[in-house]
Amino acid sequence: MATIITIASQKGGVGKTTTALNLGYGLSRAGKKTLVVDGDPQGGLSAACNLKKRTARGLLHLLKDASAGDSPSVSGLYHESLSILGNGVITGADTAFFEDAAAEGRLAEVLAGLADGYDYILLDAPVGVGAVVRSLLAVSDRYLIVINCKAGTMKTLPRLMRTADWVKKEVNRDLEFLGVLVNMYDPESAPENKIYTYFKSSLARNFFFDTVIPLDERFETASFRALPVAMLQECGEVLPSQEALAAELLAKTDGVADPAAGDLPAIREDGDDLFTELLAELCESNGYNGALLADEMGFPLTTHNCAIASDAMAAFTSVLGDTLEKAESVLDQEDANNITLEINECDMIGLHRFRALNSTYFLLVHCPRAAAFPGSIEMTAAEIRARLTA
Ligand SMILES: Nc1ncnc2c1ncn2[C@@H]1O[C@H](COP(=O)(O)OP(=O)(O)O)[C@@H](O)[C@H]1O
Ligand SMILES: [Mg+2]
Repeated sequence: MATIITIASQKGGVGKTTTALNLGYGLSRAGKKTLVVDGDPQGGLSAACNLKKRTARGLLHLLKDASAGDSPSVSGLYHESLSILGNGVITGADTAFFEDAAAEGRLAEVLAGLADGYDYILLDAPVGVGAVVRSLLAVSDRYLIVINCKAGTMKTLPRLMRTADWVKKEVNRDLEFLGVLVNMYDPESAPENKIYTYFKSSLARNFFFDTVIPLDERFETASFRALPVAMLQECGEVLPSQEALAAELLAKTDGVADPAAGDLPAIREDGDDLFTELLAELCESNGYNGALLADEMGFPLTTHNCAIASDAMAAFTSVLGDTLEKAESVLDQEDANNITLEINECDMIGLHRFRALNSTYFLLVHCPRAAAFPGSIEMTAAEIRARLTA
């Protein structure tokens, strides 16, 4: 059975969603089968992972039809041990339905039903202490509170703790407090320093996580690109804090990292040399101008000489993905994996879709209309698959 952890805060924008995604990624890197759930009707996590286009299904659909069978979570996103369950909320009516389900106890029921087959489930909570948060806490074993070291944020902490105490007393006797995580900490800021030192010295030793997550613009970059920050190639000094957080959470929950797990491949990041060479070879042997390897959301992982902007690529693949999904009968045909689009009198785009590590990838080439497509693209895809799973 999974250890279920709610990630909550009394103030918005402190980094709950960021923590849920990044901690989920860290746990999966440590060999833990992890599910991160968007428990916020505002859909912070679904947006952070760019799930909207990929699947409109999520928690809402489990609430509407608990017997629907398979959970609509997206597995193998960013890492083969990581799954993400969006909230599926689109309209205002969906939000109302979601909130009613929380108030009536159905949200807790559905969440409890997810626990099988995972080591950890992280629930990304909406801000505050409303009915949704209480129902997330009701199914959780532990809860973690994210704060920033601003005087105002600290003041709000007691209210959340009181709610959790109430939940523990009235709803879930097993609920335990895991700790407060300080996020966006700016060591250069004297007031923050003072507040942090004051709270650390006046509260119980285990009250805070030892790990402090620095304020760093790479979190914004990662958000923008819908990636865990540790997947940015230039993640620099942010990486140790991410690793330390996952390790500390494991220690606090009696989890043990799998020593072999660190070697598991992450889904690779932009500009990774591992694949650029392959793309260059592909272009050279087939007379293509440029090539790009993208993930299922259309985000480029590697490019070679590619004239196509990354947002155009993302839009293209998501439209194509939707279209293919609608044309179900086409989806099963081999040809659907090789599609060409003439973009002007001379040039075309060729797209090859393939699967690796439980995810879909796209290889896209820009080439003269006279060039042979798919040419040797399947060999390149096979080589990429082999390297990803090596
Ligand atoms: N440590 C950090 N340093 C810099 N920016 C951060 C950090 N953590 C989160 N952010 C950014 O702050 C914004 C709000 O974070 P988010 O996780 O959505 O907050 P919440 O879920 O609590 O509302 C996001 O744009 C995110 O990229
Ligand atoms: Mg959020």
